[in-house]
Amino acid sequence: MSVWVVVASIIWQLLLPKNGFDNKYHDFAITQNLKQLKGMENQKYIPALGYDFLSDYYDFAIKLTMPESKFREKLADWVDPQPGEHILEFGFGTAANLVLLKQKQGQVILEGVDIDPKILAIAEHKLAKYQIELPLHLYDGKILPFADSSFDKVYSSLVFHQLDAPTKTTALIELHRVLKPNGKLIIADWGKAKNRHMRTAFYLVQLLDGFKTTNDNVKGLMPDFIRKAGFPVAAEVDFINTMIGTFSYYKVAKEA
Ligand SMILES: C[S@@+](CC[C@H](N)C(=O)[O-])C[C@H]1O[C@@H](n2cnc3c(N)ncnc32)[C@H](O)[C@@H]1O
Repeated sequence: MSVWVVVASIIWQLLLPKNGFDNKYHDFAITQNLKQLKGMENQKYIPALGYDFLSDYYDFAIKLTMPESKFREKLADWVDPQPGEHILEFGFGTAANLVLLKQKQGQVILEGVDIDPKILAIAEHKLAKYQIELPLHLYDGKILPFADSSFDKVYSSLVFHQLDAPTKTTALIELHRVLKPNGKLIIADWGKAKNRHMRTAFYLVQLLDGFKTTNDNVKGLMPDFIRKAGFPVAAEVDFINTMIGTFSYYKVAKEA
């Protein structure tokens, strides 16, 4: 079903005149993130739903294709935010996880970082709607805009399957750097298919996001990437079999 939703959206968008970045989120991005936007124009990345013009429909597509509250609640359980903890979301998308975590634990200090200026504007719009104030940052794809040992926890969901192997490694090395000693890394993303049906279903995700970035995930290689970035051995601590593949949770603590 997800493929037909995406195909219909693509056809619809191709028939509409293009507005580019001049949409209803424009003011947020311009007023709050002008400095960060400079120099980002040529950055290469896969937008939230594979194509830039689909980003506005990201929440809708996730609701249709994923057990959304189940996978986000599970993520929140594994992140387990505590009062006063400083926590970063890597690749915040439309800020759905940030809103959930803030609602669960009002005393947590949250920040987010993402590479896409358009998704940042959408996220700012959602945070404003929920009257949540927290810093959102843009990433240049190389160096995270934070000092060493800044965060108690760093988490990420549905991001690493969009990164090719060198980019996965660069990002994980940076996440290791910005975590405090003993800080926790929690990653929720497509993982090793638990059976043949899950493997077949995952081809839908691969058709949309590409095989190059997703193959390592479905082969179950995320723990290897995490270890090679300097973390101790990471375990798959949980998973959900969804209608489009096996969604896995990995958790590891940086060495003391
Ligand atoms: C599929 S969305 C997931 C959004 C959100 N985490 C969620 O759970 O709904 C992937 C996000 O990763 C971001 N992204 C892609 N490449 C990135 C990179 N190299 N560094 C940081 N974020 C990246 C995209 O802009 C997008 O917002």
